[in-house]
Amino acid sequence: MNTTPYDRFADVYDRMGADEFSIKMTEYCLKIFRRFKIRPETGLDVCCGTGSAIKCFVEKGIAMSGLDGSASMLAVAARKLKGQRVTLYQRPLPRFRLYEFASARKTRRFDLVTCFFDSLNYLKNERELKTAFKSVYHHLNRAGWFIFDMNTPAAMKILWGGQIFTKAADDLYTVWKNEYFPKTKSATCHATFFRKKGKLWERFDEVHVERAYDNRIIMKALRDSGFRIMGFYRCFSFEKPRRGTYRICGIGKRPE
Ligand SMILES: C[S@@+](CC[C@H](N)C(=O)[O-])C[C@H]1O[C@@H](n2cnc3c(N)ncnc32)[C@H](O)[C@@H]1O
Repeated sequence: MNTTPYDRFADVYDRMGADEFSIKMTEYCLKIFRRFKIRPETGLDVCCGTGSAIKCFVEKGIAMSGLDGSASMLAVAARKLKGQRVTLYQRPLPRFRLYEFASARKTRRFDLVTCFFDSLNYLKNERELKTAFKSVYHHLNRAGWFIFDMNTPAAMKILWGGQIFTKAADDLYTVWKNEYFPKTKSATCHATFFRKKGKLWERFDEVHVERAYDNRIIMKALRDSGFRIMGFYRCFSFEKPRRGTYRICGIGKRPE
């Protein structure tokens, strides 16, 4: 059963090019690794979706696992990662616990945890955000790293607010109709998909709700969860976020 709105969308996610984002994030992560001299041997991609980031990290020699709330997204990831030694978990955020196979009491810990493509914006409030950060922290080895990106309130307001996006291919047509709610800094996206099946077009709809948080709230939640903040950037750069930045990248470290 899916615990996120990614149900039918899963089948067309990669075909729509949505997987390109996490591939770009893994390239950015390699720069982050060099800058901070990070050499992870094990990693967990939280909200791994269709598993594209996992595939890239595995190719770099990192023993990866993945977690997502959507059984449909994980099914696509499992196909993509067939033959790789990758464990996929279906777990809902904000609170999650993963254990070693051999012992239900021994927590699995990793050198690196990642969470890409505004997945954390699906958390409903600050309390959930902090709970998710705490769960990540709990699964990191000492001196382990957490790298994530999030949409900012500016992105919700300007990129999402009142906008309609369409995307067309020969056999797939999508419409995204967005609404912004300033009071909660959240946005609702009504997604409609038309997919050609033989001579007929099949329609399905999904509703996605994302919420954005001011940078100081994200940083406080990180610190309150135990992290040392090692970087907080305009995503894909090593510069500070500006007013109007659409996406941030946060880098937290579990102290030694
Ligand atoms: C935009 S997709 C990103 C997927 C992948 N990280 C990528 O970069 O392509 C968001 C993912 O977060 C997952 N997700 C959203 N809310 C979640 C929650 N509360 N618990 C677990 N997974 C969640 C969705 O199922 C989906 O796979």
